[in-house]
Amino acid sequence: MRLNLKIWRQVNRDTRGRLEDYTAADVSPDMSFLEMLDVVNEDLMRQGKDGIAFDSDCREGICGMCSLVVNGVAHGPDRGTTVCQLHMRRFKDGDTITIEPWRAKAFPVVKDLVIDRSAFDRVIAAGGYVSVNCGGAPDGNAILISKDLSEAAMDSAACIGCGACVAACKNASAHLFLSSKISHLALLPQGQLERRRRVVAMVEQADAEGFGSCSNEGECEAVCPKEIPISNIARMTREYVKALLGT
Ligand code: SF4
Ligand code: FES
Repeated sequence: MRLNLKIWRQVNRDTRGRLEDYTAADVSPDMSFLEMLDVVNEDLMRQGKDGIAFDSDCREGICGMCSLVVNGVAHGPDRGTTVCQLHMRRFKDGDTITIEPWRAKAFPVVKDLVIDRSAFDRVIAAGGYVSVNCGGAPDGNAILISKDLSEAAMDSAACIGCGACVAACKNASAHLFLSSKISHLALLPQGQLERRRRVVAMVEQADAEGFGSCSNEGECEAVCPKEIPISNIARMTREYVKALLGT
């Protein structure tokens, strides 16, 4: 396949960026989206030009590093799929593909398609620790957790912190991310001791980082590669209100 690419280029966070045109020739349908970009970069570097900066690590859908808006959709056209797991067979010969970074005040562009996601790290740090009674290795069945609760907690723990929910939200809200992290621990017995303090600290940190509030549009749920449900946001709101009321 031969593809026309419009790719966001930006030298650093203080300069204005722009979309630039590139051509990707000899693209195999079996390539991943990031492998296609690797090939474009090899061509650019052979010509002595600056390669396109983009983030990736695992390329297996588990680290949350790849953060591209493809044709206006965070992580591209496949539902429940990170952009590193998107394959070129999803496109046709001659297609034009626009590739941009996440856009949110709290995620400034570092270079080209790379954004600074450290705001998420500070939100997680604000959540603090979990008190666990250390001692001898506990018996595996010492803390009984119902199957329903453990599965709901695991579904929330599936969040990979990619930030697509923020990128897709018109308010740049981090509520789906926040609610995944808060739900994960609020549902488990190990997370009870700091439950109230944790939700207040994390919500306040997210506000301080400049993430917006939620207006229930559901764009976050639609692009989340781990298909985290928006119902987590309702749980987070309940947790937050109860913490403020001290109930
Ligand atoms: S909730 Fe989904 S979209 Fe948001 S950071 Fe987690 S995995 Fe990414
Ligand atoms: S590179 Fe790790 S999730 Fe995409």
